[in-house]
Amino acid sequence: MDNRPIGVFDSGMGGLTTVREMAKQMPNETVIYFGDTGRVPYGSRSHDTIVKYARQDVAFLRTFDLKAIVIACGTVSSAALSEISAEQDIPVFGVVGPTALRAAEVTRNNRIGLIATKATVGTGAYERVMRHANPMAEIYSLACPLFVPLVENGRTCPGDVVIETVVKDYLTPMKEAGVDTLVLGCTHYPLLTEVIQNFMGPEVTLLDSGAEVVRQVRSRLHASNQEADPDRKGYYRWYVSDSTENFSELASRFLGRPVTEPVSQVAIERY
Ligand code: DGL
Repeated sequence: MDNRPIGVFDSGMGGLTTVREMAKQMPNETVIYFGDTGRVPYGSRSHDTIVKYARQDVAFLRTFDLKAIVIACGTVSSAALSEISAEQDIPVFGVVGPTALRAAEVTRNNRIGLIATKATVGTGAYERVMRHANPMAEIYSLACPLFVPLVENGRTCPGDVVIETVVKDYLTPMKEAGVDTLVLGCTHYPLLTEVIQNFMGPEVTLLDSGAEVVRQVRSRLHASNQEADPDRKGYYRWYVSDSTENFSELASRFLGRPVTEPVSQVAIERY
């Protein structure tokens, strides 16, 4: 048993969809979350900048006595997981591996779509794992840069003409390609599940990268006997690099519940 917290970070609020999954799948675990809201988005930045920011995010999280780190960001997981995990003496989990493996496994027609940020698509990280796991797979990758700002601005509901227009514009080629599995390769995108599913149709399986990595974390902690005490309830602490002013309201949309726990601002450039 190990009651130390798990550190989770993202470029901003998107990683909270992963925390929502942790609350569902691992309710006894304590989570320290850092969202780099002052420097979001990472998805349009260079490799070196993403690695530099990720190192600072991890350095801040390591001021806590953690048992593991979850990179709840498709961009950082694609661009920097190997560098970051080689520098740490605790397990570091990224969203790419488990989600790509699941996609390779669940597809029935071997046509898999990937939507993510420009940086994630550019690394080819998802494709490499999927092709290795399923050499028959045809992979259709697409950067959807407008999704993150629309999600951050609450334009996520079915019937919202702006998001429905953008979804149709981006995803028409995916639909025409006949993908039967679509990876939501950015942790902001689960908030668009309903709109995307409505457009793609019920026969297409959508994979949430946060849910997949949480399954992997849970099984690793179980295997190493490091799960938290099942009689305790985990708690949450929130840290952001921009003002904390609107955090609770926005975070409640990502977490699907009111946010009442303390939130603090961190001067992340100092790390
Ligand atoms: N949550 C980030 C990701 O999963 C997207 C936002 C960004 O571009 O930083 O890639």
